[in-house]
This record gives sequence, C-alpha cells and structure tokens, in this order.
Amino acid sequence: MSFPALRMRRLRRTPLIRELVREVRLDRSDLIQPIFVEEGLKTDAPITSMPGQRRQSPATVLPEVARLVDKEVKSIILFGIPTVKDENGSAAYGPNGVVQRTIRDLKDQFGDELVVFTDVCMCQYTSHGHCGLVSDGRVDNDGTLQKLAEVAVSHARAGADMVAPSAMIDGQVKTIRQALDDNGFKDVAVMAYAAKHASSFFGPFREAAFSTPKFGDRRTYQMDYSNPEEALREIALDVEEGADVIMVKPALAYLDIIYRAKKRFRMPTAAYNVSGEFSMIKAAAREGWIDEKSAIMEVLTSIKRAGADMILTYHALEAAEWLG
Ligand code: PBG
Ligand code: ZN
Repeated sequence: MSFPALRMRRLRRTPLIRELVREVRLDRSDLIQPIFVEEGLKTDAPITSMPGQRRQSPATVLPEVARLVDKEVKSIILFGIPTVKDENGSAAYGPNGVVQRTIRDLKDQFGDELVVFTDVCMCQYTSHGHCGLVSDGRVDNDGTLQKLAEVAVSHARAGADMVAPSAMIDGQVKTIRQALDDNGFKDVAVMAYAAKHASSFFGPFREAAFSTPKFGDRRTYQMDYSNPEEALREIALDVEEGADVIMVKPALAYLDIIYRAKKRFRMPTAAYNVSGEFSMIKAAAREGWIDEKSAIMEVLTSIKRAGADMILTYHALEAAEWLG
C-alpha cells in the first residue's frame, strides 16, 4: 500500500491518536539521578557549570533524596567527595567514608523504596586525580584491582544495592564480583561502566567533583570514541566477567553504541547522559535558543529509543515532574 491509499498523517491527527501509536515511552522508573555528597559540607552548594545541580552535604542529601522519591525517582547513584585526598585514595574505602555513611543513612530512611547505586572509582579520592593507583607516572592496572574491590565491598557492606565500577581498569568487574561473593554479598549487583569513552563531555562533572587529573589525561584507560567494535569487545568482556547491567557512556554522541549493545547482548542496558550533555541544554535554554522542556524530553526519549532500559541523568527530577 502506498499513497494515496496510505496516508501516514491519519495517525498523527490528534494528541490521543498520537499517544495510541507511540512506540517508545519514557517512564519515571527509567531514571537514575546522580548525587554528589561532599564530606565536611555544612549545607548544600551550587555547581556553577551545572545549573540546578548541587553538591549535597551529608545532612542535606536525605531531604534531597526524599524529594526525588516523592516524584517517583527511586534510583540514585552516589559520588563521594572526601575532605582529604592522597596518593592511594584511601578515603574511598573506609567504613566511615562519606559514601559509606550516606548509604547507611539512606537505607535507614528508605530501605527498599530506594535503589542505591554507587560509583566505584578512585579519581575523587586520589591526589593526582586518576582513576587508579599511579606508579612511575602510569596508572597501574593490576595494582588498582584490589583497591577497587575494597571500595566495592565497603559500599556493599554499607548497604548498596548495585556497585558501578567506572575506572576502566581491565579485570575490574571480575575482581569486584569475586570480592563481593567472597564477602557474602552475592546479591549485590554490578552495573559495569562497560564502554566508557574518553570524552570532553565530562568537564562539568570534574568541576563538580574536583576530579580533574593533575597530569596527563584518561586516554590510557577510557576508550577512544573512534572504535565502535572495541566498545562491543569491552562490553562482551564485562558480560563475561559477571556484569548484571552494562552501561554506555556518554549517551548522546554514542546512540549507535547503545543500539548495538542492546541488540547484541540483550542485557539490561544503561546509558549515562553525562554532565556536559546536561549543561549544553541548560546553557542554550538560558540563552533562549531552545525550548528546555521539549529538548530534554526529546533527548531522554532518544536514549530509550536507541535501546537503553535505564538512564543516568541529571534531568531526572525535572523530567519526573513533567512525566508525573
Ligand atoms: C569518574 C567518573 C566520571 C564521570 C562519572 N564517573 C568522569 C571522569 O571520567 O572524569 C562523568 C560523569 C559525568 O560527566 O556526568 N570515574
Ligand atoms: Zn574515575
């Protein structure tokens, strides 16, 4: 059948008809809000490069998460900012670190009404700002593995539901899965930052979390964005090593990777709509160059359409309000 028997516009005639034929629906339960918690803060503080986002204090994080839960955003991922950084990132894995305390507080208050993911990495905690231990000016792969396992186990012990290794260290998923199992956390899931690319869209995050590397860059561990086949190999390895959820990061310049990952692996798939993607929309909207609400909904829907089951996004709260 073709024109004039077929007219595609028939099913676009009214809002209700358009809704009936809608193929992809964004839902509040798809969204995961990243939360920064800074040790030693007395109250929350704005993040200049991310309008509307704030670094939370250990006290303000509770009402902030309550606001999210109230709007049906019931998943968060925690990023900690310690008062003291050192060579070995030792504030990352102590039982009284800022993330470990926050997990306990959140679980006391919300129990299973909140899914707590934690970012497992070293870069906010190391004085050099790299994602692993540095020796001879290089990130030491195998030396870092045990540290990442300690971080993950400390999060699990505090009550995290899922740990999310983001260091792009080879073998991190396998090592963490093994350590979780050995310590009795068989039911704590691993969301692997499986295809994490060296990206200029992380800039605002690094300002927010004070995690810009002091020398060099992250290109010896994060992926080259020119290599889609390599992205699929990275994901295959993390699946093999025991990842429960795979993630592609960033999202918007990587929709092809999300699409291929979902098609090939048929795994629960997450996409990280990163800080730079958020800030670009905020900046253009502030200038009056785009309509903020419709741009955000278009972007989030496109990420789902590409194949993501869940989206880590700083737009979670505002999108939930519009979806509600
Ligand atoms: C660090 C980490 C980064 C992000 C999440 N975890 C940044 C980096 O690699 O420097 C970026 C998130 C964002 O930009 O929103 N392992
Ligand atoms: Zn890192």
